[in-house]
Amino acid sequence: MSRLIVVSNRVSVPKAAGAAGAQGGLAVALNSALREHRGIWFGWSGQETEEFTGHLNMQRINDVTTATIDLEPQDIDEYYNGYANRTLWPLFHYRIDLTEYDRSFGEGYERVNARFATSVIPLIEPDDLVWVHDYHLLPLGSMLRRKGINNRMGIFLHTPWPPTRLLVSLPFHERLVASMLEYDVIGFQTQEWLESFMHYVSKEMGLPVNDDGTIEYQGRKILAKAFPIGVDYDEFVEGARSAEAQEAYDRLKASIRGRKLMIGVDRLDYSKGLGERFESFGRFLTDNPDQAGNVVLLQIAPPSRGDVASYQQIREDLERKTGHINGAHADVAFVPIRYVNRGYPRSHLAGFYRAANIGLVTPLRDGMNLVAKEYVAAQDPEDPGVLILSQFAGAAQQLTEALLVNPHSIEHVSEAIKRALDMPLSERKQRHAKLLASVRDEDVLRWREDFVAALFGQADGNGTNGDK
Ligand code: ADP
Ligand code: F6P
Repeated sequence: MSRLIVVSNRVSVPKAAGAAGAQGGLAVALNSALREHRGIWFGWSGQETEEFTGHLNMQRINDVTTATIDLEPQDIDEYYNGYANRTLWPLFHYRIDLTEYDRSFGEGYERVNARFATSVIPLIEPDDLVWVHDYHLLPLGSMLRRKGINNRMGIFLHTPWPPTRLLVSLPFHERLVASMLEYDVIGFQTQEWLESFMHYVSKEMGLPVNDDGTIEYQGRKILAKAFPIGVDYDEFVEGARSAEAQEAYDRLKASIRGRKLMIGVDRLDYSKGLGERFESFGRFLTDNPDQAGNVVLLQIAPPSRGDVASYQQIREDLERKTGHINGAHADVAFVPIRYVNRGYPRSHLAGFYRAANIGLVTPLRDGMNLVAKEYVAAQDPEDPGVLILSQFAGAAQQLTEALLVNPHSIEHVSEAIKRALDMPLSERKQRHAKLLASVRDEDVLRWREDFVAALFGQADGNGTNGDK
């Protein structure tokens, strides 16, 4: 079996099984993939250094070998806070209004990708497969090629890919996409993002696209394909049955005193539609006075990317909205929104999900959304809760038995809450059984196997998964 060299911006391995979990779909999925596969996970330590040296800090944590480098403050500003999170992230989530273009961001992005390339090269052996992740590192493959790395290399994008009409607003967009074509495999979460990418390469770059899903570029064939990411089903279900999960479930249930519970779990990010979600709940309470005092929304939202102004803004907005809605609808012994800004161990999250009658997952745009799948996996199949899911999350393409909503419509989401609360047990069970089958069958193991098979050159084309 070839070794995997996984490269992502951040390396995030929980120190111990019961520790607060890695937050973000990428970290959660890679932890389980790397525990199975021999290999190394390389990336930024999250730490600053005055002067970049490229020194590799190697560690073995919880069965995963990691190698990290420290970055200079200017790198972090221009590459991570800059090009990655002020330029590409908003653009890829269709938020052109929040997208900032600054030449120094682009320079920092290229500089840090070059630093990643120089530092990871000593770790790469001739038979290794190199698997790069996400929008932080789109040009890394081309830099490795220029330095003589001929290994099979692939990139997987955890975010959406934007429509061509939006992407062309990015200065040097052709150069960025051309650099991605140095990989052998380019993976997306869903067919929709794949189609946007294919539209760009065929219409903007005029490249031939074959029926088998390959793109012809400079005498090479590059496979572009959808590989929907999933949860580590077995691990999650086991966690959901653990004593810690039960304790978390009991504690939460006792605290809501027989009321109905809705749960949201998201990084504090404007793409997650939290403001619209809170307003929808406010509308539900206004439109259904008979429910006053009967329904609680628990929103867990750990802060994310706090040095970026748009994230500071969303945090302030949410604090204001929470205060406003709670002020309008609270009573002496009841507060409708419980808003919590911290991380929890995964087993506790599983217990919280199971205690909730409704999983409220309403991003305005999301590459996939693993929380939706975790909510389904954690339910009691004999008395499951209802998943309300945004039609703009990648997960909506698989989880079609959820109540699919337009998260921009406060009325639509408010009505879905009412429908979910009134849903009879037989319908809840029927919907849940289908959702569970999808979450179980299209899990993180399958995602990894399919991507690794494609890296080996064994996948079929057409953006569908090959037989296993
Ligand atoms: P994203 O990658 O944009 O953050 P996903 O929904 O795909 O969105 O993945 C989020 C992951 O982070 C999930 O696995 C979720 O359980 C985890 N997570 C989010 N918030 C917390 C939290 N407060 N504590 C622990 N894990 C969290
Ligand atoms: O899954 C999307 C993603 O952007 C990952 O690339 C990232 O690791 C995660 O969300 C969390 O974001 P950050 O590393 O910026 O805190």
